[in-house]
Amino acid sequence: MANLILVTGGTGFIGSHTVVELQQAGYDVIIVDNLSNSKIEVVDNIAKITGKRPEFENFDLSNRADVLNFFLRHKDIKAVIHFAAFKAVGESVNKPLEYYRNNVNSLMNILEAMKFTGVHNLVFSSSCTVYGQPEKLPVTEATPRLPAESPYGNTKAVNEDIIRDFCHANADINGIALRYFNPIGAHPSALIGESPVGVPNNLVPYITQTAAGLRKELSIFGNDYNTPDGTPIRDYINVVDLSKAHVVAIARLLNGKNKSNYEYFNIGTGKGLSVMELVNAFMKATGVNLPYKIVARRAGDIEQIYADTTLANNELGWKAEVPIEDTLASAWNWEKHVRGIK
Ligand code: UD1
Repeated sequence: MANLILVTGGTGFIGSHTVVELQQAGYDVIIVDNLSNSKIEVVDNIAKITGKRPEFENFDLSNRADVLNFFLRHKDIKAVIHFAAFKAVGESVNKPLEYYRNNVNSLMNILEAMKFTGVHNLVFSSSCTVYGQPEKLPVTEATPRLPAESPYGNTKAVNEDIIRDFCHANADINGIALRYFNPIGAHPSALIGESPVGVPNNLVPYITQTAAGLRKELSIFGNDYNTPDGTPIRDYINVVDLSKAHVVAIARLLNGKNKSNYEYFNIGTGKGLSVMELVNAFMKATGVNLPYKIVARRAGDIEQIYADTTLANNELGWKAEVPIEDTLASAWNWEKHVRGIK
């Protein structure tokens, strides 16, 4: 029988792509998601892509009793990938307790239930936000973490620490945190992708919605940064490439290849791209003319960050493969699919 993997948040953006990659690598998947920021139709679309319907349960992972009850009913789970979390940076500033209660309690409930029911392996969805604005680029895993800019960012840092401490106290629990840079794009089938609610905060969904005519123009938040063209630099990682990093992390844990029982890896392309370069790459990849204007900087934005991915390359045998133009074309194809644009 195939190994069963629990994917929390498996109907979300990165979660759904990871479920696809896990199934295609031969794993069985059970999703837990409370659909607070996603739709049940995602499960149908995963089944369309892979030919196999993942199991699905809808409940809130911040409820301790429900989590324990779930693990007691599913004794065959071999590993957990924990995506389920609130993720809106701005909202987290206004609703800190909601963010800590949801993001931190869910993780603690999962770890406790894993220990109680003998599930040993966890992959956690972390973020490059834990580095803040680093002094030296690219960032390696040895780059010091800086205080988080938002409650959302802090839940990532705190959750990393909780996993580290729990693994330290429990030699039989293995954790891997993956620090994602900026995940973008969509599945090449255009059946799953990113579905922000309301006006998108993130760059690529705003671009594709502008291209689709839902937004008048893109606002570029500042061109007076200390970068070659003045716009901020990020490391944009294709969501399918990113999902594959989870599959290799799971295999590493199940095969006992981890070098310590808590590890963390940068998951990016290793290449920094400015906002302006990304906008130009989008127009080149899609042939769509994108209206934009330069406006003031956005509060809380850092100037530049990109990953050194040597550790993930060497230890996980993983590297980003999809060219940026293909990634941006996939994001556009998904937007067209959602809007019914031919
Ligand atoms: C943010 C979070 C990160 C989170 C990620 C995905 C911080 C510091 N970063 O990354 O933790 O994982 O979202 O949710 O909290 N931009 C524009 N116009 C727009 C939108 C964005 O010019 O309409 C620019 C931004 O100034 C930035 C770049 O595009 O330079 C990327 O922005 P965004 O996609 O929001 O991601 P980050 O802020 O890098």
